[in-house]
Amino acid sequence: MAAVRAASERCYAYFGRLLDERAVRAEPDRPATGGSTASPGSSGTEPGDDLIGWLMAAEVEGERLTRENILDISYLLILAGLDTFASSLACMIARLARLPELRRRLVAEPDLFAGAVEELLRFESPVQTGFRTATTDVEIAGEVIAAGTTFFLCWSSANLDPAAFPDPLAIDVARRPNPHIAFGNGFHRCLGIHLARMELRTALDQLHRRIPDYALKPGHELVFSGKPRTVNGLPLVWA
Ligand code: HEM
Repeated sequence: MAAVRAASERCYAYFGRLLDERAVRAEPDRPATGGSTASPGSSGTEPGDDLIGWLMAAEVEGERLTRENILDISYLLILAGLDTFASSLACMIARLARLPELRRRLVAEPDLFAGAVEELLRFESPVQTGFRTATTDVEIAGEVIAAGTTFFLCWSSANLDPAAFPDPLAIDVARRPNPHIAFGNGFHRCLGIHLARMELRTALDQLHRRIPDYALKPGHELVFSGKPRTVNGLPLVWA
């Protein structure tokens, strides 16, 4: 937990420096509230030409976002957008390394990558679980969840439900429809869903153009853990 806290603080400090720098650029006469060291990643000459700049100028119901709001949103986007994608990609490559026939099919027909991403998201479900609090009494399969109860959702097991997915343990890149909930569902469904899909399709497509044929290093046993779920080490070999 100490390491997690320290990493979070570093991340907040990084965005804090970026915000100070942007504020100075937007209003050069105003003194910065913190260090104004040039930050890696600051892109242009205008404070408003990217997401951070947009958040600084945004209004919600007539109110500007506070510095704390912007820091929290920036931190959430890093937290929600980075490990989720990296872990999903690792799980997918680990799976394809063990399915040479499917891999050869994808290499021969790259148009199948879009369906493969959906099916591997369903099958691997790297973001396995989340929490909800019931706002009213809810009945699910004869069980009542009372208003106010916080409960644990397991999206990954829903993605293997035979009532929703015929032959759920088969990986079928042509599965249609594929109503998986690897991005959650409802009001809080993943905000980055389109970006994540594009990143996964692009990464898999490009990787397989360069390295179409690979396998797990002989003798290596995959170990999965974490939240999001990922592989602890993925040694691959290729010719
Ligand atoms: C393969 C990659 C990703 C997976 C598997 C994934 C999965 C999820 C899941 C399961 C949730 C919870 C949904 C719920 O509570 O119903 C979520 C929420 C969220 N995701 Fe993603 N995500 C991915 C990539 C991204 C990216 C790239 C971004 C943005 C850059 C992002 C931003 C968010 C945000 C902001 C939320 C919170 C939404 C809310 O509470 O309203 N995610 N994601």
